[in-house]
Amino acid sequence: MVKNAVMMLTGLLVVCLCLAGCDSKPETYLAAQIDENEYDPEKWGDAYPLHYESWLKTKEPKPVDKTRYKRGWDTDEVVYDKLSEFPFLGVLFKGWGFGIEYNEPRGHYYAVIDQIEIDSSRVASGGVCLACKTPFHRKMTETHGLDYLGKPYLEALDMLPEKLRELGPACYDCHLQDPLELTFKKDHLEKGLEMIGKKDPSRQELRILACAQCHITYSVPKDTDNKVAGDVTMPWRNGQWGDISIEGIIDVLLTDEFRLEWVQEITGFKMPFIRHPEFELFSRGSVHFKAGVACADCHMPFTRSGSYKISDHDVTSPLKADLRACAQCHTQSKEWLTDQIFHTQDRTTSLILRAGYGTATCARLFETLHQAQAKGAAVDKTVYQEAKDLYMQAFLRIVFINAENSVGFHNAAEAGRVLGDSIAFAGKSEGLLRQLLAGVGVNPGLEVALDLGETLNNRGEAKLNFRPEQEFIDPFGIQDKLISEHAKGL
Ligand code: HEC
Ligand code: HEC
Ligand code: HEC
Ligand code: HEC
Repeated sequence: MVKNAVMMLTGLLVVCLCLAGCDSKPETYLAAQIDENEYDPEKWGDAYPLHYESWLKTKEPKPVDKTRYKRGWDTDEVVYDKLSEFPFLGVLFKGWGFGIEYNEPRGHYYAVIDQIEIDSSRVASGGVCLACKTPFHRKMTETHGLDYLGKPYLEALDMLPEKLRELGPACYDCHLQDPLELTFKKDHLEKGLEMIGKKDPSRQELRILACAQCHITYSVPKDTDNKVAGDVTMPWRNGQWGDISIEGIIDVLLTDEFRLEWVQEITGFKMPFIRHPEFELFSRGSVHFKAGVACADCHMPFTRSGSYKISDHDVTSPLKADLRACAQCHTQSKEWLTDQIFHTQDRTTSLILRAGYGTATCARLFETLHQAQAKGAAVDKTVYQEAKDLYMQAFLRIVFINAENSVGFHNAAEAGRVLGDSIAFAGKSEGLLRQLLAGVGVNPGLEVALDLGETLNNRGEAKLNFRPEQEFIDPFGIQDKLISEHAKGL
């Protein structure tokens, strides 16, 4: 049912060459006029007006009700709150910005604007937060170093040229001036590729790496006073191209002390974090990665613009673009493909809930245990450390898949594996915690009260509340059998 992938990819190449040659009027491609240091998309637009127009469309709301799990900035104009969608995050993220305001992504146009609009706790690290947002990040870091990286966010933003201050992912990020060559400009990605020993990416790999400039996980390095200590850095030391595993990532996150970025309020633990690891999950042996498919194949398919065919620069969910991208290779119907996506995402969501609630339950048990310790109860140090280690393993796995933006689609088998392990680690940790609590005469009850309402209401400057209509309910009805509404406490 899939057209020959190799034929397909060759096909894409030919279309593209045609674009540069046969299909275009020469005046549409005045690439030579673009200066090497031109950041302004409007100037690029003089040479490539159709691409500029297409790129600007990431500003427009997308059709509502086409997606099941990635509602974002759609025509209903509702901003979707990830903490309401997955209420267990209230307990897990309490203590820092992600526990205050955490929204589903929207178009590239809003990358910087959303940082300006979000609760200020989310950009508390300062200039370093602009790493995956502004095309000026590298230049600013090279010129001003920590003075820019550690400066309060709005002050760092003020250091950028006024006209382009709110500019997100731009032509400059993904292209060389000399016509149509793809590239990547982020210093952190160059260093990341060095870590995994990747050299000389092919053109098809560049169609992945242009996105991997930002859709990857990284740490914001912090010193012992919790001050920003450098530019973002990826935990890829143990990885290889096509094989950056969660096991390898966790190993790095837990051994480099500078990667401990925040304190989880419920447990008091210093924690690392994982952000939007689209590249890592996708490239770890997914069916599509193995078949040589790139991010741009699904998120930037060819589209007709007048009498031209161009790569769609209105990057968004393929579902919201009517799965035109898939039809480049798949002969199945749109309905069949939509079902495939939803089936994968339903299964992933069910497991996300299992892992999330299991891990949040452990967090509350640690809280109870710490209260008992504060009153003088003595607990076995070895068992305690074991429970904590298992908890960290569970936590980082659930965050890895939950922060990944495809709800499992990019690599369904791997997502299922990682969540299964998270559930196992959380279950074992809970057992040890119950044993420790029993040892000091505390009975946390059959059901552990999560008190999610307490963590989800009245959040931050905007006093955000839990939005019940946005919560994702287990599509298979399993989670309800494991935790009652009473225990959730919403
Ligand atoms: C310079 C950083 C950067 C680059 C490069 C980048 N992205 Fe993004 N992307 C973001 C940010 C930041 C957001 C979230 C913006 C927001 O919510 O305000 C985002 C959002 C998205 C979304 C959600 C859009 C929506 O309508 O909800 C998709 C899909 C996406 N990116 C895919 C890609 C793909 C595919 C590539 C490569 C072709 C890519 N991105 C390259 C930073 C980047
Ligand atoms: C085989 C097709 C395919 C490939 C390849 C692919 N994606 Fe996706 N991506 C999807 C689908 C399908 C979704 C789910 C969209 C939804 O649920 O609305 C998705 C979701 C996303 C989202 C969230 C979109 C939103 O609206 O919030 C981002 C961001 C994203 N992908 C980035 C990437 C990046 C980066 C890569 C490469 C590392 C990549 N994708 C590779 C098909 C693909
Ligand atoms: C997030 C990365 C990204 C951004 C931002 C981006 N492009 Fe592209 N662009 C691509 C990718 C991927 C392709 C496909 C190229 C390929 O396969 O060789 C492409 C292709 C092109 C092409 C070649 C013809 C075609 O349609 O395939 C032109 C011209 C172009 N882009 C212009 C622009 C302009 C102008 C801007 C800014 C207004 C821009 N691009 C912003 C990723 C990007
Ligand atoms: C550039 C080509 C290409 C594009 C674009 C593409 N696919 Fe695929 N897809 C493939 C190939 C190749 C396979 C592997 C088929 C095989 O080996 O049987 C595959 C496999 C699949 C499978 C089976 C996966 C599995 O786990 O076995 C599904 C489902 C699927 N694709 C859905 C989609 C959807 C949905 C989109 C659009 C969002 C999409 N594909 C876009 C080429 C593509």
